[in-house]
Amino acid sequence: MQANIQKIVVLGTGGTIAGESESADEGLSYKAAQRGIGDLLKSAISTKLPWPEAMSVCQFEAEQVAQLDSKDMDFETWTLMAKRCDHWLAQDDVVALVVTHGTDTLEETAYFLSQVIEHSKPIVLTCAMRPANFKDADGPQNLRDALVVAASTKGPGVWLVAAGEIHHSEFVQKVHPTRLNAFDSGETGAAGSVQNDKVQWFENFQKPLPNLRLHVAHLPLAAQWPWVEIVMNHVNAGHQHADALVNAGVQGLVIAGTGNGSVSSKMKESLVRAQIAKVQIRLSSRCNQGAVIPTSSHVFDAKGALSPAKTRVALLLDIMSERQSH
Ligand code: SIN
Repeated sequence: MQANIQKIVVLGTGGTIAGESESADEGLSYKAAQRGIGDLLKSAISTKLPWPEAMSVCQFEAEQVAQLDSKDMDFETWTLMAKRCDHWLAQDDVVALVVTHGTDTLEETAYFLSQVIEHSKPIVLTCAMRPANFKDADGPQNLRDALVVAASTKGPGVWLVAAGEIHHSEFVQKVHPTRLNAFDSGETGAAGSVQNDKVQWFENFQKPLPNLRLHVAHLPLAAQWPWVEIVMNHVNAGHQHADALVNAGVQGLVIAGTGNGSVSSKMKESLVRAQIAKVQIRLSSRCNQGAVIPTSSHVFDAKGALSPAKTRVALLLDIMSERQSH
């Protein structure tokens, strides 16, 4: 019945899931972002397998928001993507969104969306490690799984579905450059799994509370976003990197510290100078798991267990939010 129809909107942004290689045997050398989202959706839903009962009331609609390799993801595309998400989620008949995305920067986009969108409905990102014309392409199954998860997930949240696993945007990271299950959620672990169209949520997974840093409606034009960079501590780390960035006008620096957020003495001196010059500094760890635990030797702000890349997203949004409150 028309009244029961639930719409899932699928937004395409490119990536390997939309990629094509020269032959069906070539899975590593290919061009990302070649196929349109309409075609990807058709491949995912045209399998002979019947949909689960709960999906019989679902209708799908595709929209191409961008078509790029996610290494080239930018603030303009993020803003457009967030606005389209906001638009679709506000429609009464839309129950969830699925976003197809390249794997390389997916975790940053997922985290960004989670911090700027305020709705009671889920956003499920998905991707692929093999191009669309590869003989064993993983994209169609990942997209089908994402649609099943989107239809069954109630409440807000931004998720990644890939290789049969469901990950939360707060914890997920790409941890492998080539294997099919390239994503991991570290100590927290995956939130659930999806196999044969059946979704299982893991009992010990605790969904973090929604956290809105800056509403999508308040995102400034891309050219007005602050300049925030990541500097990494490593053997023989000096002061030149941070000094050069500060001299060039950087507004925020995220430290990918070693271990529990340590930085070399020389680098620390340059970062203290940067802080005095009103550059905002955030401390994170280059370790893949665990949070930086603040101690008396820490002189920079460390918040939570976010990776350096996600800490940068948080700092970008916090700087923009602070500017607007002044
Ligand atoms: C991309 O991130 O767009 C290319 C790589 C991938 O999707 O696996």
